[in-house]
Amino acid sequence: MKVLFFGDVVGEPGLRALERELPALLERFAPDFVVANGENLDLTLPEQGRAGMTLASLERLFRLGVDAVTGGNHSFDPPDLEAVLGHPRVLRPLNYSPLAPGRGSLLLEKGEKRLLVVNVVGRSALPLAVEDPLPALERTLVQEEGAPVLVDFHSESVFEKMAAAYALDGRIAALLGTHTHVPTADARILPRGTAYVSDVGMVGAEDGMQGYDPAFLVAAYRLRLPPKSLRLAYAKGPVRVSYVFLELHGTRAKAIAHASFLGEGALS
Ligand SMILES: [Fe+2]
Ligand SMILES: [Fe+2]
Repeated sequence: MKVLFFGDVVGEPGLRALERELPALLERFAPDFVVANGENLDLTLPEQGRAGMTLASLERLFRLGVDAVTGGNHSFDPPDLEAVLGHPRVLRPLNYSPLAPGRGSLLLEKGEKRLLVVNVVGRSALPLAVEDPLPALERTLVQEEGAPVLVDFHSESVFEKMAAAYALDGRIAALLGTHTHVPTADARILPRGTAYVSDVGMVGAEDGMQGYDPAFLVAAYRLRLPPKSLRLAYAKGPVRVSYVFLELHGTRAKAIAHASFLGEGALS
């Protein structure tokens, strides 16, 4: 079975890049399932620096052939998060409060083929609000019924992601890191058959910070508050498209290919 996974898709530049590039990638890889991290799909409250996703942008991803959209620390940014997180193909971190809206795991099915997608957030990315991701993952794995498991582990820390991957090696098909927006050069298959990469990287404009114009983020970093006169905006320049292609055999991984390339310009 084949799976295509895109790291954090950042706003209009990222969406446009996927609209441009995804049809050729679908033709080339013929994936059974396509998953994308969408926690940065929109600016839901730019004066506060809030990202998250909207139903309109989600629909653009689903129209392209994306089967499920994962989240992260920005899953809880949108003002209408019940509607967004209530969408049947949207995930938010599993290890957030069970009382919060949304789901942390989703079983995708197409004919005989099944893939359990699970989304967790590391303590390094959302320190106060979540339980440890590893026990949350282990509880979910006990309940699942033999489908291969793809984990989007959304975290600042390579240590967190790597430790969880080794803890679950052979029990999950893949643990793919997201959140930093920077691709790491360590894609591999662990000894018992789990595909791993510390961070897939983003689908977002290159000339800035993690797909955003640096002005707001640098000022917020100085102040430790959203700066009053600025709004968060997308970076300009060519768009980096970062993805992982997986070949699975049963519940384990046979191959992982990680790519991150610069496409054409962002917003005109
Ligand atoms: Fe992100
Ligand atoms: Fe994040």
